[in-house]
Amino acid sequence: MSKRTLVTSALPYANGPIHLGHLAGAYLPADLYVRYKRMTGADVVYICGSDEHGVPITIAAEKEGVSPQDIVDRYHTMNAAVFEQIGISFDYYGRTSSPVHYEVSSSIFKTLYEKGVFKKKTELQLFDPEAGKFLADRYVKGTCPKCAYTEAYGDQCEKCGTSLSPAELIDPRSMLTGAKPEHRETEHWYLPLGDLQPEIETWLNSRENWKSNVMGQCRSWLNSGLTDRAVTRDLNWGVPVPLEDAAGKVLYVWFDAPIGYISATKEWGIQKGDPDLWKTYWMDQDTDLLHFIGKDNIVFHCIMFPATLMKHGGFVLPKNVPANEFLNLEGQKLSTSRGWAVWLQDYLKEFDADTLRYALGTTLPETKDSDFSWKEFQSRNNGELADILGNFIFRTISFTSRFFDGVVPELISPTERDQATLSEITRYRDEIARAYERFQLREAINLTMNLARAGNKYLTETEPWKTRKTDLQSCANSIHVCLQISASLSLLFEPVLPHKMKQLREYLGVKMCEWHEISSAMLQTGNTISPGDILFAKIEDEKIDQQIDLLHQSANSGSENKFTALSDEVEFDDFLKLDLRVAKIIQAERIPKSKKLLRLQIDLGFEKRQIISGIAEYFAPDEVLNKSVTIVANLKPRKIMGELSQGMILMASNTDGSLKLIETEGEPGAKIS
Ligand code: 2FM
Ligand code: ZN
Repeated sequence: MSKRTLVTSALPYANGPIHLGHLAGAYLPADLYVRYKRMTGADVVYICGSDEHGVPITIAAEKEGVSPQDIVDRYHTMNAAVFEQIGISFDYYGRTSSPVHYEVSSSIFKTLYEKGVFKKKTELQLFDPEAGKFLADRYVKGTCPKCAYTEAYGDQCEKCGTSLSPAELIDPRSMLTGAKPEHRETEHWYLPLGDLQPEIETWLNSRENWKSNVMGQCRSWLNSGLTDRAVTRDLNWGVPVPLEDAAGKVLYVWFDAPIGYISATKEWGIQKGDPDLWKTYWMDQDTDLLHFIGKDNIVFHCIMFPATLMKHGGFVLPKNVPANEFLNLEGQKLSTSRGWAVWLQDYLKEFDADTLRYALGTTLPETKDSDFSWKEFQSRNNGELADILGNFIFRTISFTSRFFDGVVPELISPTERDQATLSEITRYRDEIARAYERFQLREAINLTMNLARAGNKYLTETEPWKTRKTDLQSCANSIHVCLQISASLSLLFEPVLPHKMKQLREYLGVKMCEWHEISSAMLQTGNTISPGDILFAKIEDEKIDQQIDLLHQSANSGSENKFTALSDEVEFDDFLKLDLRVAKIIQAERIPKSKKLLRLQIDLGFEKRQIISGIAEYFAPDEVLNKSVTIVANLKPRKIMGELSQGMILMASNTDGSLKLIETEGEPGAKIS
């Protein structure tokens, strides 16, 4: 076992609030692990902070007409507070605009530069002639060369996930002015990943017990052949490149952000009065370095950052990178721009932190994408936290108060059943520990709930409310066993439910202890316990329906892009196959027994026809009568509800869900092209 563990969670960008997807990807899993690990007595430090550079931040600032510093100050404070409320127990939450970070990242860059690691290259890059600026990363949009998506960013296509450089975009356009960029020469420093591939590959091959999704992604990068990556940008927001011939250039955000882990550790040590403490965690090879991230960050943490550290020398390299897949929301991809997200500060106004920690913890996207739904959240709370854990503890504590004056009764001549149930405590303790050590956090949580299930079953089956009248010692033994299980749960559930378990330990008079000390004798006979409140209340349907409504409302209103994504590109010849015509609707009537269909007779000038159109929920027959509209005239005739339909009326679907006819002044039969 190593002497110490250094855990990091991906530094969130300080350009927006934290949502459920962030929490499930990088913060809750790390926090569960760290809280468990601390209980084992391990020397563990948990580091995170705000990622305050990069183009999304400058774009947000430009949109609001404020400075990038204003943006990062706002979100750094907001996000740090939300993490604290949800119980993410960072030892230090730093930020990459801090002076220590500037100093550490500049020094690492300089060392690599002086060792001759970087390649300096002069390349043609996109330049906005109107703004007089080079267009780095997200300052440019265009068509993805891989999937033809027309809204791809200069650094990544969000449709197919491919990493791009601005120069690869087809038909690029500037996000600053909309201008068509020119190509201009500029100089940058590159990390020569192409040359370093063998070293990186050897190191990756030496890693053990990595998740297959993580190693699989690394192998696929290696199989396609690594390419050199620029570690500088032409921007005025970021850590200035610490070289004389680099005016107007800053470190690439993905070069400086992971170094943020080091600078935050340094600040943590300074705060503790030991400015060199960080070296123990980063320079002494007896440290297990673990990066918790989402899958979109794998290449940076498994290839680029380790390559930087390797070439610098002296640093520990990650022992494991337990990256998670993505969390979907109500069956759809989470999207902040579409407003399809649940923000933590909104969640915390309505519900408590531990309920989310449990519901999300049991749904973590550990090996594949998973889905958060409000109904499942409710059923995890009502069916598991309230009905199993809460109910077990409440029944145990209230029985003790009522019939044993709130005092832990003595266990005398226990039955085999009593003993077997007590021995479950240490069995579960060890099984749960194994799951945590393997980063199987869902499993760890489910196992912990299984101990509460076992307790509930034992309580129901030994029926102390009956034995109280027939065999008082048997009743006392049952309650003793249930109290010991409750006490062990107050410790075993600590990583998942830190707020509620602290409360429970206070009711029971249990002190925090190390994991291996958790046993079936956490409570002494004769100890007094206090009655306490119900730990988990049920959540009503109404509250859940409200959240679902809110989600749909925010998706419809606040989103920047409410428009349906463009369909795939078609050849011009394919377009020509459609015969679009002007047609006049000369008769319109409902079809009996159909809510959706109207029977329309249309005049095409050269002939009259019938079209069955699914617009009855949007238009009354007389609203469409005598309108000149556009139709697809050469659509193969088909039968709809037994009626022949010869063509299709074209409609505009508005973003508010309404349908509009595409009216025209053309004469019936006129070809539209
Ligand atoms: O993807 C992101 O949100 C990045 N801000 C993560 C950075 S992780 C680390 F390298 F700092
Ligand atoms: Zn693409």
